[in-house]
Amino acid sequence: MNGLESERNLLAKKSNNLDGIIAIPGDKSISHRAIMISMLAEGKTKIYNFLEAEDTLITINVARQLGIEINQSSNFFEVQGKGLNGIKQPDKDLYFGNSGTSMRLFMGILSTQNFPSILTGDDSLSQRPMERVAMPLRKMGAIINMENNQAPIFIHPAKEILGIKHVLDIASAQVKSAILLAALYANPKTVIVSESVTRNHTELMLQYFKYPIQYNHQKIELNTGKLSSIDKLEIPCDFSSAAFLILATILAKNSRIVLENIGLNPTRIGFLKILEMMGADIKATIDQNQFEPSGTIEIKSSQLHGINVPKYLIPLSIDELPLVFLAAACAKGKTTVRNADELRLKESDRIKSMKTTLTEFSINVIEHNDGLTIEGGTITGGEIDSFGDHRVAMTTLIASVCSEDDVLVKNTKNIDTSFPDFVAVMNKIGLNIQTLEN
Ligand code: S3P
Repeated sequence: MNGLESERNLLAKKSNNLDGIIAIPGDKSISHRAIMISMLAEGKTKIYNFLEAEDTLITINVARQLGIEINQSSNFFEVQGKGLNGIKQPDKDLYFGNSGTSMRLFMGILSTQNFPSILTGDDSLSQRPMERVAMPLRKMGAIINMENNQAPIFIHPAKEILGIKHVLDIASAQVKSAILLAALYANPKTVIVSESVTRNHTELMLQYFKYPIQYNHQKIELNTGKLSSIDKLEIPCDFSSAAFLILATILAKNSRIVLENIGLNPTRIGFLKILEMMGADIKATIDQNQFEPSGTIEIKSSQLHGINVPKYLIPLSIDELPLVFLAAACAKGKTTVRNADELRLKESDRIKSMKTTLTEFSINVIEHNDGLTIEGGTITGGEIDSFGDHRVAMTTLIASVCSEDDVLVKNTKNIDTSFPDFVAVMNKIGLNIQTLEN
């Protein structure tokens, strides 16, 4: 990779009149889980609409290092599941790049095995907190060592894995999922209780693979059992990627788009609720519910107004909050987002990154320990860094639909971790984003 490619600076010019009926790539969270759960199932699974992005390809790579055969065909990946006790000791350290979901969920699986493993990540992932996952796993009998709450993570074979009753004190689907994956190996049953609702893709997929699990929004109970063969799994398109097209369309003038086959799991679409509260013209219809609800979203240009974002919607829109900040910057009046301290622990400190970006764009922003208050205004545009964060990079680029001047975002290669087709898809609906050649 040459220097220019590793930086990849993107220039977004002002654009209006967005339109189109667009398909976007598969869901990242569900793609990770599809590989991990089908590798532990009895028999083959064909996974359709798998997201081929850097983060999810890392999950495939790690599964292969654990002895799992995964073959790619023209429109699916086929995973040869080996059952709960079929994975083997890797020959070398397992590298997770930038992918927090892969590392944290694999901690759950690896801490139950009878072999040791070492988990490493890139500079950003190596600064993200990992004790939140290790602590409940140790309660189950796992032996996990790390320094300063950070990777590299050293996992040793556990003597036995015990079912626990655990109260989740962080609204985190990754922590919950790591416990659930370890609990597949636990005796007797595991119970997880939680006050906040977070994405339930792991619960839904375990159920789809006929694992004995019962759950509601507050409580999950997982018994001992096995993951049956289910042959085919179709991943819906990623709502979190759709969110960039949704907000661009709302903010641009004279625009309307239709998105099809988008994941509409209620634990993921808090962003739609927030936009509706702000006055957006959105119609979402569920037309499929095989194992995850999915359907069509129609969006039109809308004038937004400021709101106080309710606390319960924060975990349900956690990855879309940078977009909520941009929506607030373009809305009439004041918007406040609080209770979002988890944002400081993402690929960047998203409270700081978005405050810096919006301030650079001449918007008045007040920073709180757990969120931002934003006074809607006119986005001037200008030059800004991605802060090493794919979602900040993409959010900033779509500000170009309502900015006075062009928007230049530096160091955007990280977009490939979740949405490699971002520029092509956005340009297809009418944005004007180009790679800057110098
Ligand atoms: C994810 C859970 C969320 C989210 C991340 C993906 C998942 O993280 O931000 O992008 O797939 O479980 P937390 O569990 O840390 O909230």
